[in-house]
Order: sequence, then structure tokens, then C-alpha cells
Amino acid sequence: MEYINLGKSDLNVSRICLGCMGFGDSKNGQHTWTIDEFATREIIKSALEKGINFFDTAIVYQGGTSEQYLGRALKDFAKREECVIATKFTPRTPEEIKNHISAQQHIENYLNKSLQNLGTDYVDLYIYHMWDYHTPMEDIMEGLNRVVKQGKARYIGISNCFAWQLCKANNYAQNNNLAQFISVQGHYNLIHREEEREMIPYCKEEHIALTPYSALASGRLARLGKGNTKRAKEDSYAKFKYDKTEKEDKKIIERVAELAQKKGVTMTEVSLSWLLTKVDSPVVGATKLSHLEDAVNSVHLHLSTEEISWLEEPYLPHALAGVMAQNKPQASLENHVWVQNARKIDNTER
Ligand SMILES: NC(=O)c1ccc[n+]([C@@H]2O[C@H](COP(=O)([O-])OP(=O)(O)OC[C@H]3O[C@@H](n4cnc5c(N)ncnc54)[C@H](OP(=O)(O)O)[C@@H]3O)[C@@H](O)[C@H]2O)c1
Repeated sequence: MEYINLGKSDLNVSRICLGCMGFGDSKNGQHTWTIDEFATREIIKSALEKGINFFDTAIVYQGGTSEQYLGRALKDFAKREECVIATKFTPRTPEEIKNHISAQQHIENYLNKSLQNLGTDYVDLYIYHMWDYHTPMEDIMEGLNRVVKQGKARYIGISNCFAWQLCKANNYAQNNNLAQFISVQGHYNLIHREEEREMIPYCKEEHIALTPYSALASGRLARLGKGNTKRAKEDSYAKFKYDKTEKEDKKIIERVAELAQKKGVTMTEVSLSWLLTKVDSPVVGATKLSHLEDAVNSVHLHLSTEEISWLEEPYLPHALAGVMAQNKPQASLENHVWVQNARKIDNTER
């Protein structure tokens, strides 16, 4: 495994981050295809053995059970100080806004709950999951700074935002001596490359780490065809993200398969190896032990400049998909799936 420092921080992370959205109670949340605690523990144990030390979860993943499974496994198989744990908080719910729960209070409440789920005193990276148009950015930055000062979060990161939003937030933080975002978790892979317009050049300029999610387009860049797994059949959110562009994406996926065959490696290795030429540590999901093998191997696969250009050549601009398609002031959070999940968190004792 190779390691890299996350942006300007002293977090030294593996070049592969294990995404934990697929871990958790399948009856308690957005996804029906998540794997149980026994299978999760096997994957986390193997990831640690392979040198992966960077784990990404969120309070809204399967009602907090993703955090709980991760926390218990890390406690049993690793030393806390050797792991880098990232988790995320979502925007204030309409009920919190109505009840005048401030951003500061919201962040502290959610982080306390995440720490309880994870069974730890601090997280290494606390990520603002999606831009909240109903809460002033200044209040979010003050709230995040407070948890950093308290030692409950070592660093802060952001996900699903535009470059102007990150720039505005970090400028405010810099001018007011507050903690700044050190990393961005955007939606970026070979078949969705919109981050290349503004976010990637901005982050390179500012030395902000790139840790993109859905590195394999939720499996589409790891196999030819629709796939026969539980996730492939049941992940309606991934279908919503990728089905509209299936025809144009097919050309790129076929090139990944062709190059993989030529090089005698898997499609996953080619897809991740391409991504590793652009970013610091992609967040990769795994539902089987064998998935880790390919992810780890990708770190050592070399693609030539010609191979990289050939993989990139068929790409045409895409409309924003998934969470980023909802990054607009008029988007209502009332029925957002994460807000529905967060409502359950609000009722939990802290
Ligand atoms: N910030 C955000 O808004 C956000 C959004 C989405 C995800 N995330 C994070 O990013 C992580 C990854 O996202 P993701 O799960 O959508 O995407 P992904 O990493 O693109 O895809 C993971 C899926 O690809 C398939 N796969 C992985 N390795 C494979 C291999 N070697 N061979 C064949 N198939 C393989 C598996 O699908 P099957 O199960 O079908 O085999 C697996 O579930 C999540 O766990 C989460 O931590 C963050």
C-alpha cells in the first residue's frame, strides 16, 4: 500500500479509502443491499491487513449502523491512533430549523451521536455531507471550528459542493481564524468527470485533498453489463445516477474492459488506477472480500499517458447527477432521503 498526506493536514492515509456505505442493517435505511455485521467485519479486518487505514462512513448510512459496525470492528482489529476515520453530517432538518436549533448545536449534536456510534472520542475528518442553503455558511464554519477546538474532530472536509462554495467557506474561515476544509469528497470517476471543470484545478491550486466517492460508478466500472449482484439489482439510487447516460458510458466501460484484458488485470484495477493519477485517495465500496484485492492492486498498476488518453477520449459532458443535482437553493430538503434518515437521529437520546 502507498500512503499520502491529506492536503495540508498531517493525516497520513492509504491511497485507497474504504467506503462504508454498503455496511449496515439493510432494514434500517436507504439501501436494501447492505451487508451485515459479520461480513462487514471480515472486510474491515482484511482491509487493515492490506494496509488500508482510511475509512469513510456517515451518520445517515443505514440509521447509524454503518458507523456502529465500523467502530466495533476497528476497536477489535486495530489501534485507534493508526486509523483515519471520516464521518459526515447532513443539513439541519426542517424540524430543527423550526425549533431554532442553531448550526453550532446541530453539528455538535450530530457529532456526539456519531462518536457514540463509532465508540471513539474523536474523528479524524468531519465532513459536511451536502451544502445547506437554509443555514448560513458562517454558522456552519463556526460550528465546525468549535468541534475542532474541542478535539472532537481533528480536521474538516466537505462533500458534494461546487468549487465556489468551498472557496467562499474556506476564505471566510481563513479571514476569521477558523478551521478550513482540507479535503473534498466529490462524485468523480471515469464515466462522470464534471469535477475536472473547476473543483480539481481549484483543489490543486489550494493543496486541498481529493477523495472522490463512487470511484467505480457503484460497480459499473468493475464489470461489463448490468451485473447480477444484490446491489446491482436493488441499488435504485445508483440507477438514478447512471441509467440516463448508459449508452454513452458504455463506450468508456468497454475500453476499460479491453485495456484490462490487454494488461491481464481486472477492470477495477484499470478504473482505479486511472483515478489514482488524478486524486489522492478514492473512496471505494466493497461488498465482498475479493473486491479489496483489486482495489489494493490498482495502486501498483501503471497506465501510460497514451492509455490514459484513450480511456478518457470518448467522454462527453454529463448533467450533474445524484446529490450534486440537488445542490441548488430551491431544492427542498423536506423529502430528501438523508433528511428522512436524519429525522430518526433527531429523536435519539444524546
Ligand atoms: N459523499 C457522498 O455523497 C457519497 C455518495 C456515495 C458514496 N459515498 C462513499 O463512497 C463509497 C463508495 O461509493 P459507491 O459504493 O457508490 O461506489 P463504488 O466504489 O463506485 O462501487 C462499489 C461497488 O462496486 C462493486 N465492486 C467493487 N469492487 C469490485 C471488484 N473488485 N470487482 C467487481 N465489483 C466490484 C461492488 O458492487 P456489487 O456489490 O454490486 O458487487 C461495490 O459495491 C461509499 O461506500 C461511501 O463511503 C459518498
